[in-house]
Amino acid sequence: MNNFRFHAYTDIFFGKGQIQNLPEILNRFGKRVLLVYGGGSIKRNGIYDQIQELLKGFEITELSGVEPNPRITTVRKGVELCKEKKIDVVLPVGGGSTIDCSKVIAGGAYYDGDPWDLVLDSKKIGKVLPIVTILTLAATGSEMNKNAVISNVELNEKLGTSSLDFIPQASILDPEYLYTLPAIQTAAGTADIMSHVFENYFKTMTSAFIPDRFAEGILEACIKYGKIALEKPDDYEARANLMWASTMALNGLVGAGNGAAWSCHPIEHELSAFYDVTHGVGLAILTPRWMRYILSENTVDRFVMYAENVWHLPASEDKFALANQAIDLTENFFKECGIPMTLTELGIDDSKFDIMAEKAVKNGGLHRAYVSLDKEDVIKIFKMCQ
Ligand code: NZQ
Ligand code: ZN
Repeated sequence: MNNFRFHAYTDIFFGKGQIQNLPEILNRFGKRVLLVYGGGSIKRNGIYDQIQELLKGFEITELSGVEPNPRITTVRKGVELCKEKKIDVVLPVGGGSTIDCSKVIAGGAYYDGDPWDLVLDSKKIGKVLPIVTILTLAATGSEMNKNAVISNVELNEKLGTSSLDFIPQASILDPEYLYTLPAIQTAAGTADIMSHVFENYFKTMTSAFIPDRFAEGILEACIKYGKIALEKPDDYEARANLMWASTMALNGLVGAGNGAAWSCHPIEHELSAFYDVTHGVGLAILTPRWMRYILSENTVDRFVMYAENVWHLPASEDKFALANQAIDLTENFFKECGIPMTLTELGIDDSKFDIMAEKAVKNGGLHRAYVSLDKEDVIKIFKMCQ
């Protein structure tokens, strides 16, 4: 295992009714709260009313309308509100988009220039307002990690930034809040969790036993409980396992000691930047094609490990047959979850493959990925997704 720093300080409140702890948690930071949320799901499912009831003694300022693939324009609005209302703590209630938007708002509150600077250059992130999250979508791991991904629509840019101070101080994870998710968001979220694991699991270093076993456990949980949650949206055990899988897949635990540049994520971020694609849908389309593209004598052993430990396929002399079977199962799983599995189904043709491939390689450092990818490789992968 390589050297790593793992600093996980988020105070997690997991389970039914944990929102009751919200006043006590926020009191640690102050009374002036910026409540951040998206397009209204929290009003429809009652979480908004619960919060208003619990926070009667607080001074709440609201920022609503955070977009899926959150935009810098919304971050700017939030920063202004923080400065104007002298906000003490930022409270995102929603999925990764709302939480990511809040992270850059929290950093922007102490920054004098345009918050887009903080996305372009994480070294410019200084002091950050405390962040407390209420998660409503199991996917990104943003509830316990240092990352934020922000889009600039005018520039067709979707970029990640990070700071240890972006790690939420506390997160409330109530699996019942996932019951109202549209099926496609449950499916896309599950694909995203799996992709976070794949990005770390497929790597050149082979001596990370503990991260590998964590990874396989999370993948098995997604395969088992993703299906159950889709069949029965209010299955508590399924939602609870998916929620914890989301948090554990990208809080540094699986990646510890086995770093390398990621592969599908930088490619997907270009699809989102140019076509506003749902992150998990883009990943589900790309992942099996990327797997087939990189399968070789050098990588096949990892795929065999994946086949045997995650899909429990019987050992075989023919390593490539086993690897391909596991990749087919991965693709079928996403298909059975109801995810459209081609770019064509999303209305994406080949007109921007070139520019998206170029930017993915540049922004994602794809030459440093598990299997190094250049622009032509990425174009070939896009073509496989048509
Ligand atoms: O906006 P509302 O009305 O709340 O509706 C949302 C949104 O339309 C809806 N939703 C969320 N919870 C719901 C619900 N609808 C009903 N019931 C609920 N309980 O779901 C839609 C999607 O929400 P969003 O927050 O966009 O989804 P997700 O959590 O998948 O976040 C995606 C964003 O996170 C970034 C992605 O690139 C994308 O921008 N990522 C962030 C990462 C991180 N911070 O570490 C890593 C990831 O790899 C990813 O890049
Ligand atoms: Zn992701």
